[in-house]
Amino acid sequence: MIEFLQGWKRSHYAGLLREEQIGQEVTLMGWVQKRRNLGSLIFVDLRDREGIAQIVFDAEVSKEAFEKASDLRSEYVVAIKGKVRLRHSINTQIPTGNVEVFVDTLKVLAESELPPFHIQDEDDANERLRLKYRYLDLRKPNMQYKLRFRSKVAKIIRDFYDELGFIDIETPVLTKPTPEGARDYLVPSRVNLGKFYALPQSPQIFKQLLMVSGFDRYYQIVKCFRDEDLRADRQPEFTQVDVEMSFIEEDDIMDINEALIVDIFKKAMDIDVPRPFRRMAYKEAMEKYGSDKPDLRFGFEIKDLGDLVTQCGFKVFTDALEKGGAVKAINLKDYGQNFSRKDITAFEEFAKTYGAKGMAFIKTSAEGMTAPISKFFSETEIQAILSRMDAGANDLILIVADTKNIVYNALGALRCEAAKRLNLINPKEYNLLWVTEFPLFEYDEENKRYCAKHHPFTSPLDCDVDLVESDPENARAKAYDIVLNGVEIGGGSIRIFNPELQSKMFRALGFTDEEAQAKFGFLLEAFKYGVPPHGGIALGLDRLIMLLVGTENIREVIAFPKTQNASCLLTEAPSVADQKQMEELMIQSTYKG
Ligand code: AMO
Ligand code: AMP
Repeated sequence: MIEFLQGWKRSHYAGLLREEQIGQEVTLMGWVQKRRNLGSLIFVDLRDREGIAQIVFDAEVSKEAFEKASDLRSEYVVAIKGKVRLRHSINTQIPTGNVEVFVDTLKVLAESELPPFHIQDEDDANERLRLKYRYLDLRKPNMQYKLRFRSKVAKIIRDFYDELGFIDIETPVLTKPTPEGARDYLVPSRVNLGKFYALPQSPQIFKQLLMVSGFDRYYQIVKCFRDEDLRADRQPEFTQVDVEMSFIEEDDIMDINEALIVDIFKKAMDIDVPRPFRRMAYKEAMEKYGSDKPDLRFGFEIKDLGDLVTQCGFKVFTDALEKGGAVKAINLKDYGQNFSRKDITAFEEFAKTYGAKGMAFIKTSAEGMTAPISKFFSETEIQAILSRMDAGANDLILIVADTKNIVYNALGALRCEAAKRLNLINPKEYNLLWVTEFPLFEYDEENKRYCAKHHPFTSPLDCDVDLVESDPENARAKAYDIVLNGVEIGGGSIRIFNPELQSKMFRALGFTDEEAQAKFGFLLEAFKYGVPPHGGIALGLDRLIMLLVGTENIREVIAFPKTQNASCLLTEAPSVADQKQMEELMIQSTYKG
């Protein structure tokens, strides 16, 4: 029988009942976690968003409620009125464990089919099933905690910027392509047949326009859309904390956002993170850690061996150097004995997934050294390598020779993999780092031209302005990323506000004036009317939350995420469009799947 609330109001959350409520009449509403029949008593764990309370049906208190209760099943929605009593057998495992509620009246508000998995944190249903029934998955306490934590952090962020005079302004979702380097999601226009909007990869251009408008300080917590290959820390739609400021330089942006991060750690987690955060130039990050987002919770720094092996007899090394590549290594110092020959082979296979063609090694121990490549080297060369690598008596040196990029990628990944296998990473340690002085350009091998590393509006360093055209490879940008434990949680830059410099930049990127005009004409036009010096940053909110709650999967902190292939298992989006809709838009699919 379906029942209605009929004026009943909840008096307490079940999960918040404590001894103070003993003796009180309460009204609770929630889901049946579990029912146990004990002859003359029926015990039910009643769950709401705050937790679980035990409610008891006793035929002597209410025969009607007792009889109805024997039909309750998991996940039925009920409302009860009853009296809070001291619990007979105290349960120290739950915060409500001191009390129980003896039920006078029970209303069954909704029945439930048997759920496809248990609504409890320990349930190990696979992720696809969890995503298909996400609304049930989200009933689990741990999922509720993560989304509530996310909401709390968002509030801290809003309060923080608001107090500093930042203005929250919404920017369009139906817009023109934004230059963030991923593919756009396109939306056909019915009113303008044959034309398409792009969903914003970020509000970049609009926030710059808002600076032209004189708002001076802008922020927005905003959805961004990027059609790119997905990874554990990437989603096709994700949330940025987007910020822009006028009349500032790099330090101002970094200072304010450092203060924000400190505030988040303090207020959301009661953790004091020390300021200022370390800063490291991109070049140093790459040379020492093989990554522009190094995890500094452990060492194993990369060392260059190029100068020591130019004359060696190992063709792999000399060939790599002759082709302009590199030979570099890391030393898993004091952990040599932790790794068997099999482990080393596994490291080599791992390095290969990063493009390396192979990996050489030198293992040291009290008895001496094992190094299959030693036959190609003179004793002096070997000694020089050991000395460069600061080798001791229990080390494993991993060497990769290839193009610079591959060497950095492979060794950068190997140092993290080794630290993980050695359990050297303390999950409770939060290592924050600014990476600065990014290259302004990146060479696009496929199209044989330079493209902007960040975006085309990022300013070069004052001292590198002349390099923009003369030596783009070495021009550095006023760009900075913020890195937490080896994950890029945000990035931004100071923008070009000088039209001459902007034209120079477009030329260096190979845009003709017409192309620049077609793509960003409205921005260039706006810049003719008095543009203040400005810059900003965007933090990836999902990634930040992911790290703070200690998961490696970004989907865990998003209510309704997409899978690795950008689909939603719950709604089955994306789906085939209705023929009539397609006709209205005058579009046709050429896909023959
Ligand atoms: P950027 O492209 O570096 O900068 O993005 C800023 C931050 O957003 C997060 N992020 C993502 N998170 C989840 N899934 C994704 N697909 C994804 N892509 C990016 C990252 C990243 O650091 N407009 C500039 C900012 C600026 O210059 O002010 C921008 O979008 O944490
Ligand atoms: P090979 O000549 O392929 O038998 O390799 C001899 C040794 O050199 C093996 O230990 C390989 O793993 C290693 N090796 C091969 N290619 C590379 C490379 N690009 N960088 C470092 N070591 C390599």
